[in-house]
Amino acid sequence: MSKPQSDADRRKQISVRGIAEVGNVTEVKKNFNRHLHYTLVKDRNVSTLRDYYFALANTVKDNMVGRWIRTQQHYYEKDPKRVYYLSLEYYMGRSLTNTMINLGIQSECEEAMYQLGLDIENLEEMEEDAGLGNGGLGRLAACFLDSMATLGLAAYGYGIRYEYGIFAQKIKNGEQVEEPDDWLRYGNPWEKARPEFMLPVNFYGRVIDTPEGKKWVDTQRVFAMPYDNPIPGYNNNHVNTLRLWSAKSPIDFNLKFFNDGDYIQAVLDRNLAENISRVLYPNDNFFEGKELRLKQEYFMCAATLQDIIRRYKASKFGSREAVRNTFDHFPDKIIYHINFLHMENVKKKFPDDLDRMRRMSMVEEDGEKRINMAHLSIVGSHAVNGVAAIHSQILKDSLFHDFYEMEPQKFQNKTNGITPRRWLLLCNPGLSDLIAEKIGDEWPVHLDQLVALKKWAKDPNFQRNVARVKQENKLKLAAILEKDYGVKINPSSMFDIQVKRIHEYKRQLLNCLHIITLYNRIKKDPTANFTPRTIMIGGKAAPGYYVAKQIIKLICAVGNVVNNDPIVGDKLKVIFLENYRVTLAEKIMPAADLSEQISTAGTEASGTGNMKFQLNGALTIGTLDGANVEMAEEMGLDNIFIFGMTVDEVEALKKKGYNAYDYYNANPEVKQVIDQIQGGFFSPGNPNEFKNIADILLKYDHYYLLADYEAYIKAQDLVSKTYQNHAKWLEMSINNIASSGKFSSDRTIAEYAREIWGVEPTWEKLPAPEDQPQN
Ligand code: IMP
Repeated sequence: MSKPQSDADRRKQISVRGIAEVGNVTEVKKNFNRHLHYTLVKDRNVSTLRDYYFALANTVKDNMVGRWIRTQQHYYEKDPKRVYYLSLEYYMGRSLTNTMINLGIQSECEEAMYQLGLDIENLEEMEEDAGLGNGGLGRLAACFLDSMATLGLAAYGYGIRYEYGIFAQKIKNGEQVEEPDDWLRYGNPWEKARPEFMLPVNFYGRVIDTPEGKKWVDTQRVFAMPYDNPIPGYNNNHVNTLRLWSAKSPIDFNLKFFNDGDYIQAVLDRNLAENISRVLYPNDNFFEGKELRLKQEYFMCAATLQDIIRRYKASKFGSREAVRNTFDHFPDKIIYHINFLHMENVKKKFPDDLDRMRRMSMVEEDGEKRINMAHLSIVGSHAVNGVAAIHSQILKDSLFHDFYEMEPQKFQNKTNGITPRRWLLLCNPGLSDLIAEKIGDEWPVHLDQLVALKKWAKDPNFQRNVARVKQENKLKLAAILEKDYGVKINPSSMFDIQVKRIHEYKRQLLNCLHIITLYNRIKKDPTANFTPRTIMIGGKAAPGYYVAKQIIKLICAVGNVVNNDPIVGDKLKVIFLENYRVTLAEKIMPAADLSEQISTAGTEASGTGNMKFQLNGALTIGTLDGANVEMAEEMGLDNIFIFGMTVDEVEALKKKGYNAYDYYNANPEVKQVIDQIQGGFFSPGNPNEFKNIADILLKYDHYYLLADYEAYIKAQDLVSKTYQNHAKWLEMSINNIASSGKFSSDRTIAEYAREIWGVEPTWEKLPAPEDQPQN
């Protein structure tokens, strides 16, 4: 256990983020001890850090339960329009600190633990990440849940309670190795199982005609068991529900075997049914055409729809007789009929345009008949949106152009966002306090207010304070990295960071080309002026994505050469950050100087990591892709390092024909870099190891790395130069923070609510429930 912080530090921290009331602190201690005794059945002689974590988590949960029940009763009393968010991924991370913050009891808990001789940070570290997601999409769902609760929406998340979340990434001998994520091993204090509300989901079987109509028979039945997870809003006494389904075998599963007397085999086979919720598919941005994946999708939808309809019928509006029976004709629409009606509409608007009809059909006829799910979704939805302005434009201009021409009013934009509670208040208390001193404490729910910080962008005092907080955060990260990787880090070097899933389109390889270029420059002239950098790259590769795994291998191999070259010294260090996940992101974002957002223009729908860096004062080097475009608009081009081809330029290059050798032959620096990769400079034991990477770059590159190389290197040179001008860098950093208001997921959710869902956000608090059981 680390030494608790000094009294002076603690008092200072607590004074800015609310004073802990003595009575509340006593109450927390009492409940904590009660849980240690009655729930954990331990005394302090034998309690482990994990026991203390569980005791605190249960204490915090007790504080939330009254609000949770009260919120759900409130929804039944008021009967507002419900919002249902269905997703196969929720990348929640940890819940303890977030819950304390949103309930406004963080100071009390900190003080109580301190008085008990415990450092709350050590307890927080015991919590497993709920890693039920891969990357941006899953984390977006988690940020949206936080915002929907904070905006008082009667919202419910529905998904799958995977027994194994995203794999843990280990780097062994410079290569990714996957380990299963057994996150439920010690139990999950936040969830509440509801076996009494289990619902049946049927698979396979056949449809027969009976005198009463069609009947689905001979199905294989699985039960969906709900687990409810509380989603507290920020400081508004709302607690919404995330309901996750777990597959449960029916008692009579494999009845045939029972009857044959093979009782043991029948019990063992119950696993087969329960495999549906066993594990998250570890692919990001990739269609998985597996039967088990389809089963997961159907399992979640079938269980969720039953639950929604059940709640609808139980609600004040839905329980009225006239409304109850409106589902009678629900099963009449089968898919070919929907397509027939859709084709009639297309014909009406565009007579005699047979090619358009073929393009827009939901049924693809070339080769084996397949249903185009995207087309079905567009036709079935009353609104369709992209997740950043540029993405929405691409949907209208190219991907769904025919559908846009047919129903232009359907197409909208909703630029993604992130929750400022987790991504500033929780992860960066130092910066949060600084901001609160200047503009008060409403910014966590009105992030637009950050714009007021602009007037202090050049203020030497404020700059000094922002620099101090950044330096403290960098030292903290450096200490973690030194402990975990044994690498000595120069804390005055620029922390240049690219963390995201490893994908060719995200171009971690381009970053790698820059690293090698810097290395070659140092070697060529070790005495030249150089801005020291610690370049960190982190992210998981899908286990079956060979090229992504090779990219990790190359980064590690380059790091091996660079980090062990005495001529390089502490000018340049390369670190591959192992097992990037929500919890590591919370430590990285506050410590970053430079954020790398360098995907090929037109490939990243939005990105949300870019916003987390910006909110924490890192400057961005990036392409005009995804939400980078709007970030640049918000802060102005003076505050961001934009480089490279635009979407139109990429399209033009594609049309003209891309020949990587043109760039290779024209630029001696890139030629040297590629030759080194090709020739085994970074893999002396196996000179052919990275030949395939060089081959991709020169012959099969769909992401045009060499076409953007020169512009990228020039932009990086400007970054290095700017970093040496401390005051200028800090001014830009403050302008970044001040311009990040737009990227709160509260703004995103308020737009969805008003413009698509037809519900109105509210900042009104529910009355705080008395601390007594509700009934
Ligand atoms: P659900 O939304 O139907 O899943 O129920 C969630 C919670 O809402 C229940 O556990 C109750 O606390 C509350 N609830 C359910 N039905 C009613 C009702 O008719 N009036 C008030 N509250 C209710």
